[in-house]
Amino acid sequence: MSAREWDPIEANALVNSCVMRGNPLVALQSLQSQYGFVHPEAFEHVAQAFNISRAEVFGIVTYYSDLRTELVNGTEVRVCMGEACQAVGARTLLRELEHFESNHAEMHMFVSEVFCMGNCALGPTAVVGATLVGLANIDAVVTLFHEVQS
Ligand code: FES
Repeated sequence: MSAREWDPIEANALVNSCVMRGNPLVALQSLQSQYGFVHPEAFEHVAQAFNISRAEVFGIVTYYSDLRTELVNGTEVRVCMGEACQAVGARTLLRELEHFESNHAEMHMFVSEVFCMGNCALGPTAVVGATLVGLANIDAVVTLFHEVQS
């Protein structure tokens, strides 16, 4: 995903456009989608726009693993650590990907964990960039990672 450069004025307008939907998560997801992260500068404006505290905004941002406060430098690879995926090898896949990540730093793979992507029957589940991978294994994930990179 190509993110735009952070623009506080534009970001505030984006937050304002989400107020009618009544859910600060929608505004935070919109910021994440637009910029690739939620700049901490936006917390105050989101709090004011939705009449909640900055602490509540911080709580939302830190609760949802998809929301980030910094731009990820590279392609994100997320591995589901939900119980169903762990039962079919997600821990092994995560270890293998972390090993790949550490041995190929120049490729800018950013490995992280998520919990249940709703694809439990086809676990282990991984997401490379924005693409869901069912029955994931190291070869399939790395192949897709290379495709996303090119
Ligand atoms: S537990 Fe992994 S997708 Fe549900």
